[in-house]
Amino acid sequence: MDITKYLEEKKKVIDSALESSLIPLKEHSILYAAMAYSLLLGGKRIRPILAITTYSASGKNEADILPFACAIEMIHTYSLIHDDLPIMDNSDERRGKSSCHKVYGSDMALLAGDALLSYSFEMASNPIHRNLFDEKLLLEVVNNFALSSGVKGLVGGQVMDMISSVDEEINEETITYIDRLKTASLISLAIRTGGILAGVNESEKLALSRFGENLGISYQIIDDVLDETSSPEILGKETQQDKKNKKATFVALFGVEKSKNIAQELILKAVDFLKPYNNKYTTIIELAEFTLGRMK
Ligand code: FPP
Ligand code: MG
Repeated sequence: MDITKYLEEKKKVIDSALESSLIPLKEHSILYAAMAYSLLLGGKRIRPILAITTYSASGKNEADILPFACAIEMIHTYSLIHDDLPIMDNSDERRGKSSCHKVYGSDMALLAGDALLSYSFEMASNPIHRNLFDEKLLLEVVNNFALSSGVKGLVGGQVMDMISSVDEEINEETITYIDRLKTASLISLAIRTGGILAGVNESEKLALSRFGENLGISYQIIDDVLDETSSPEILGKETQQDKKNKKATFVALFGVEKSKNIAQELILKAVDFLKPYNNKYTTIIELAEFTLGRMK
């Protein structure tokens, strides 16, 4: 399979679904504009693509899961908007443009992020999904959304990220913990949601979660390597920020080359969890391997 072509095609599907999903909010002009600015203009859409790919692996129709895939991208986008605020990482650029607060101000950016988070839950919990999915599965999905975005997920990870610095005694275990919460929780949520809605059994769900968790930690290490080695033109955001902000990352602890090796090992570890399912998950495995190519 030509994975680059697959990603391009699926990105178009996601972009169009995201645009449609915001239409009901258009009348709230300023808030809509700030939300749409960050959500619709850029982003690789890797999380929603992982969700639809996992779901399709069970022979299901990807259209069924698009609202959930979009909802996960909304949580991700909210987290980027808040992460870029002057009170957090203070980043002026994101996805190849000025960050949300540079265009709409910190007040509106904060609220656009809040609104994206709430809207993602509104989308995921829409009663209309009962037409396609069992209520128990829907509740499980919404519960997973909450767990992954809250204290034991995204927010908890961001707090650890804010309070940790390379100046302190920082070890691999702590950095892995930060990356698991702040990045792997959403990536794992995307993959797990695909599995839950496809109706896979508990052990398969667990395997998908473990795959997602290891991929997610690797994804963050790759992001940190690129912060060190890439350029704003390629990444669409400022680079060399982690060093400047004394961030606790694998790159700070081990350097670029060893971090690349760890990222690769984590992908191998991730793939192992899906071995019992033979060729069912070939495409998400290819997607995981593709993410490593970004570091070359
Ligand atoms: C880049 O994703 C982003 C990450 C690797 C995650 C970083 C984690 C945070 C910013 C957590 C913030 C949390 C809170 C609560 C503020 P990507 O390369 O997929 O970006 P793209 O969507 O622009 O392609
Ligand atoms: Mg940050």
